[in-house]
Amino acid sequence: MQQAPFIFFCRPGFESDCAAEVQAIATAHNFAGYANAQPDTGYVRFHMFDESSAEQFFELLDLDDIIFARQWFWAKAELEQLPLDDRISPIQEVCAEVAMAKTLLVEHLDDDDGRELSKFCKKFSTPLTIAMEKQGLIHEDSDFRLHILFLATDHCIIGYSPIECSSPHKGGILRLKAPKNAPSRSTLKLDEAIQVLISRKQQKDAFRLGNTGVDLGAAPGGWTYQLVERGLQVSAIDNGPMDKKLMATEHVEHFKENAFTWLPEKPVNVLVCDMVEKPSLVADLMAQWLEGGHTQHAVFNLKLPMKKRFQEVADCIGLICDRLDDAGLAYFWQAKHLYHDREEVTVYFRLKARVAPN
Ligand SMILES: C[S@@+](CC[C@H](N)C(=O)[O-])C[C@H]1O[C@@H](n2cnc3c(N)ncnc32)[C@H](O)[C@@H]1O
Repeated sequence: MQQAPFIFFCRPGFESDCAAEVQAIATAHNFAGYANAQPDTGYVRFHMFDESSAEQFFELLDLDDIIFARQWFWAKAELEQLPLDDRISPIQEVCAEVAMAKTLLVEHLDDDDGRELSKFCKKFSTPLTIAMEKQGLIHEDSDFRLHILFLATDHCIIGYSPIECSSPHKGGILRLKAPKNAPSRSTLKLDEAIQVLISRKQQKDAFRLGNTGVDLGAAPGGWTYQLVERGLQVSAIDNGPMDKKLMATEHVEHFKENAFTWLPEKPVNVLVCDMVEKPSLVADLMAQWLEGGHTQHAVFNLKLPMKKRFQEVADCIGLICDRLDDAGLAYFWQAKHLYHDREEVTVYFRLKARVAPN
C-alpha cells in the first residue's frame, strides 16, 4: 500500500534537486523511499515504503538539514472537491484524527497557481483557526504544527510537522522589505541568510558593535550595507564602484583588489562573499579563510550549475569540511536555497573555537 507522502516545498524549477537531496538523506539512514516531483510545481512528494520507516523518517527530519527545501510536513490526508460553502468541517474532521497542534499554517505553493491562492489562504486562515480552537484542536502543550496546503480552492493536503524542525513562515518564506537606502536588492539575500542560518546567540556574537567584516565582491554594496547596519566596520573588496551613501557612513574601507588574493592584516569576525564565480573556486577560497583563521563566521553564495545542482553543492561543502577536518578545526555549517536566492544557494560556516586576537 502506498504510504502518505512527505511534502517538501522548494523554489519552482528545483524539484529534482530537492528530490535528490531528500533521497540522499533517506539512503544515508538506510530508508527506502521514492520521490514524485513534477517540474515547476514548487514541491516534492516523497513516499516511504512502510509505516514504521515513515515514522522514523519523520523523527529525524529537520528543515535545517535540507538545503533545497523551504518547508515540509508529513501528509495525513488529501481532500479533493471540498464543498465551497463549508471547507472547514471536512478539514476539522481530518485534523481531529491527526494530532493536536500548537499552531496551524494555511499554505500555498510558490508556483503561478499557488501564488493566486495567496489571498484565499490568508482569508481562510482566521476562521479555520477559530474553528479549530473552539473544537479544542489547538493546544499550547503540543509540539506539532498543522499544515493545510491548498493546491486549489477545493483541494488541500493536510499534515503535520514538529514545530522545532519546520518553518514558522507560510511556505517557509521569510518575506523581507528592501531597505530604502540599500545599494542593491541583493541586500535581502544576506538579510535572510543571517536570520535563517545564524542562531540569535551567534548573531549577537558576530555582530557586536565595532566588530570587523570583509565583503569579497562587494560592489555596489548591498551585502556591505547589512554588515554596516549591524554595527560592523567593513573592508569591501571589489574593482567596481561602491555606493556613495554607504561610503559616507565611514564604516567602510574600499579596496580595489582581487578578492582571490586579498587578505586582512588581522582576523575579522565576519566574512561574506557574493562573487559570481565557479562554486569550487569559491569553496576553495572559503576553506583558505577558515583554515587560516582569518574569520570566524563566513556567509557565501555558491552559484549553481545547470545540472546536478545538489551534487555540486554537496561536493563544495564536502571540500570545505575535509579541509577543516584536516586542520583539526571544529566547525558548524548550514546551507539553504533561500527565498531570495535564485540560481545559487547560501552557505554559513562558523569556526567553533574563537579566532585568536592579534
Ligand atoms: C553579484 S555582485 C555583488 C553584489 C553585492 N553583494 C551587493 O549586494 O551589492 C558580484 C561582484 O563581485 C565582483 N567580483 C567578481 N570577481 C571578483 C574578484 N576576483 N575580485 C573582486 N571582486 C570580484 C564583481 O565586480 C561584482 O561587483
